[in-house]
Amino acid sequence: MFNDVIHNVPNGFADIRRESEAMGFSMPSDLQTGALLQTLVATKPGARVLELGTGTGLATAWLLSGMDQTASLLSIDTEPTYLAVAERVLGHDVRLTLRCDDAGAWLERTQPEQRFDLIFADAWPGKYAHLDAALGTLAPGGMYVIDDMLPQPNWPDGHDRNVDRLVADLESRPDLHLVRLAWSTGILIAVKKQRT
Ligand SMILES: C[S@@+](CC[C@H](N)C(=O)[O-])C[C@H]1O[C@@H](n2cnc3c(N)ncnc32)[C@H](O)[C@@H]1O
Repeated sequence: MFNDVIHNVPNGFADIRRESEAMGFSMPSDLQTGALLQTLVATKPGARVLELGTGTGLATAWLLSGMDQTASLLSIDTEPTYLAVAERVLGHDVRLTLRCDDAGAWLERTQPEQRFDLIFADAWPGKYAHLDAALGTLAPGGMYVIDDMLPQPNWPDGHDRNVDRLVADLESRPDLHLVRLAWSTGILIAVKKQRT
C-alpha cells in the first residue's frame, strides 16, 4: 500500500505529458489525483462531468478513462495553446467537449440549467471565485473535487489564507458532506446531499 504506485494510466496520458513538458506547462495534476478522479467517476454511470481548468488535458484523460460510454465531459480553459494539446490527443473522443472560455463567466451564464454529477474544479473560478455558481450546478449526490489544498511550492505568498477561507466556506454549507484527504497535493471532496 504505497500511494506512489499508480497503475491504469490512461491512453494518451504519456503523449499529453510529453507535450506539456515540452511547452513548459507548469500546473499539471499529479498521478494520484488522476487515479482518484478515474475511480470516483467510475461510480457514476452516465455521469455528466465538468472540469474547470483543462490545462493540457492530463486530468481530462484520467476522467475519460473512468467514464462509461454514456457519460459526457465538458472541460473549460481560457488558454487555447493548452486546449490544443488536449484536442490533439483526446479530441477524437465523442464524450468530450472542450470549450475555450472564462470558467467564471460560463458558470454565471449557465447555472442553474445544467447539472453535473462530478465537478473537478481546477482553476481559480469555481474554487476561489464563483463558488456558489459552481456548487449550484452540482446534482444531488454529485461530487465536487479540488486538489492543491496542502501547501505547495508554487503557492504565492498568502495563498494559505485563500485555502483556509475556502475550506471554512465549504464546511459551513449544510447541503454538503465533506472529507479532506491528505493524498496527492491535498484533496477535498464534497458531495451534495440528496435533501437538506
Ligand atoms: C491547475 S491548471 C489545470 C490543470 C489540469 N486540470 C491538469 O489536470 O493538468 C489551471 C488551468 O486553469 C486555466 N485557467 C486560468 N484562468 C481560467 C479561467 N478564468 N477560466 C478557465 N480556465 C482558466 C489555466 O489556463 C490552467 O490551464
